[in-house]
Amino acid sequence: MNAVLAPSADRADSEVILKLSNVESAYGPIKAIRGVSLQVRRGEIVTVLGSNGAGKTTILKTISGIIDPRKGTVEFKGENITAMDPSLIVARGLVHVPEGREVFPLLSVHDNLLMGAYTRRDRDAVARDIEMVFGYFPILKERERQEAGLLSGGQQQMLAISRALMAAPELMLLDEPSLGLSPKLTKEIFEIVVRINRERGTTMLLVEQNANMALNAADHGYVLENGRIVMEDTCERLREKEDIKEFYLGMKEAGARGERRWKKKKTWR
Ligand SMILES: Nc1ncnc2c1ncn2[C@@H]1O[C@H](COP(=O)(O)OP(=O)(O)OP(=O)(O)O)[C@@H](O)[C@H]1O
Ligand SMILES: [Mg+2]
Repeated sequence: MNAVLAPSADRADSEVILKLSNVESAYGPIKAIRGVSLQVRRGEIVTVLGSNGAGKTTILKTISGIIDPRKGTVEFKGENITAMDPSLIVARGLVHVPEGREVFPLLSVHDNLLMGAYTRRDRDAVARDIEMVFGYFPILKERERQEAGLLSGGQQQMLAISRALMAAPELMLLDEPSLGLSPKLTKEIFEIVVRINRERGTTMLLVEQNANMALNAADHGYVLENGRIVMEDTCERLREKEDIKEFYLGMKEAGARGERRWKKKKTWR
């Protein structure tokens, strides 16, 4: 996908929009992330890959203020937003599309979209943005007056992304948009995520188990293992790494290599 769509600006030249420094978050005694540092630059799609329980959702919840970290800092557009109230973080242009596509099931598609725009006062622009998301996901226009709970899983994922777009975000956090979707629908959703990034300049931080899709869509990637970042590189280079091919892309190659410790524990689906 990167080859056919205009690549993002040279990484070193663009502004760091999100910066995590040594972030640790825990649930009671369970340390879910242990000293995570990562950066997202404006205009990029960055992915964090990791298997079940690696800490992906915890990273996103810590960024969006749902969980307060025990240590470390989260900066957005140069401002320290660590443990800030989630609604204040949304108002600054950072929205979170949670795991499991949480829509309001009893509200119509249209009203779900309006909920996404609740912090905005620019009514005309909100109406234009509803048309904009229908442009990306035409099926939602057909179902505009239907209860969101009656949509299929894939359609609910589309609605969850659309509702986040209605907040006119500068940075979107996407938690496993491929979860439970067919390969075809996953591909469609990822293509639209890339289009939104390229056409609207919305920066994306995408956490995924589906390394194949994520590495094709994103510019830069981090690999998370047991709450720690164990690898970071451009997605182009990550796609070529033997470790990644073997455990994340399912292309096992023969040959003994030294550092197998973190790979062996993996239970990849
Ligand atoms: N509410 C919670 N209470 C206690 N422990 C939790 C809670 N949520 C997550 N954990 C633990 O924190 C660790 C990280 O979980 P997290 O949900 O961030 O992983 P994940 O990478 O998103 O996994 P998945 O791919 O399954 O969604 C896991 O060991 C998990 O069991
Ligand atoms: Mg998760």
